[in-house]
Amino acid sequence: MATTMQRAEAAEHAMSEELDRVVVKSVLFTSGERDPRVPVLRPPDQGKLYQMGHDSRLPKMPDKPTLFDFFRYRFGPSAHMLQSARLAQKNGVSEKIVLACLLHDIAIAGFIRCDHGYWSAQLLEPYVDEEVSWAIRYHQTLRFFADDSVGYKYPEMYVKLFGADYQPEPHIQAAYRYARDHKWYMSSRLITVNDLYSFDPNAKVELEEFTDVVGRNFKQPKEGLGFDPSPSAHMWRTINWPTRYL
Ligand SMILES: [Fe+2]
Ligand SMILES: [Fe+2]
Repeated sequence: MATTMQRAEAAEHAMSEELDRVVVKSVLFTSGERDPRVPVLRPPDQGKLYQMGHDSRLPKMPDKPTLFDFFRYRFGPSAHMLQSARLAQKNGVSEKIVLACLLHDIAIAGFIRCDHGYWSAQLLEPYVDEEVSWAIRYHQTLRFFADDSVGYKYPEMYVKLFGADYQPEPHIQAAYRYARDHKWYMSSRLITVNDLYSFDPNAKVELEEFTDVVGRNFKQPKEGLGFDPSPSAHMWRTINWPTRYL
C-alpha cells in the first residue's frame, strides 16, 4: 500500500510531467514533510530543461515589478495588513507607521513565516526609512510582551495558538530588552497596537487606498523589485521565481 508520502510524490510527478520545465523544490519548501538529509533525486528530465525562470503555474509578473505587483501576484490574502494600516490611520499615527503597519507581515504573506519580523524588515530595508524597517523587525518580539502604557496586552490568540505555558525563548527576551530601550521602541510598539487579528470582516480595505502613502515612503527601484542592485533584491526575485533551479 502506498504511503502518503509516495502518493504525494506520485501526484507531484504527474503534475511535473505537464510542465514544460523540470521543477525541483528548495529544501526549505519540504523540510519537515521530508527528512532534509535524504538526497533529493533529480526527477527524470524526459528531455526537458530545468526551471530557470517563470513558473507557468503562477501568474506572470510584470518585467519591472512594483511592491503592489507582489501584493497582487505573489502574496496571500493581505486583508490583515490592510486593516491594520487602516486602523493605524484612524488612530492618527504618522505616515511612516501607517506604512509599517501596511507591510509588517509581508514575510508571512509571501515568503517565510518563521521569524517573519526579521524577514519582512530585510526585504524592505533598502527601500524604506530605517525607522520603518526597524519597527517591523521588532514588532514580532514586542507582540509577546505587554505594555500597559499603551493598553497592549499579551494576545489571547497566542494563548490559544502556543499554549498558556509558552515562554519566549532567551533570544526573544534579549531582543525585547534591546528594543525596549531603543529610541524607536514606540514606533515598533505602535505596530503591535494596530496589529489586530479580530478585525471587522466586513470592512473592505483596498490596496489602492495606500497608493500615496507608498508613493511617498517606499523607494520603488526603476529596474523593478528584484532586478535592482539592492542587498535584498535576490529575496524579491526568489518570491517572483520560487522554483528557479539556481
Ligand atoms: Fe507579525
Ligand atoms: Fe500582524
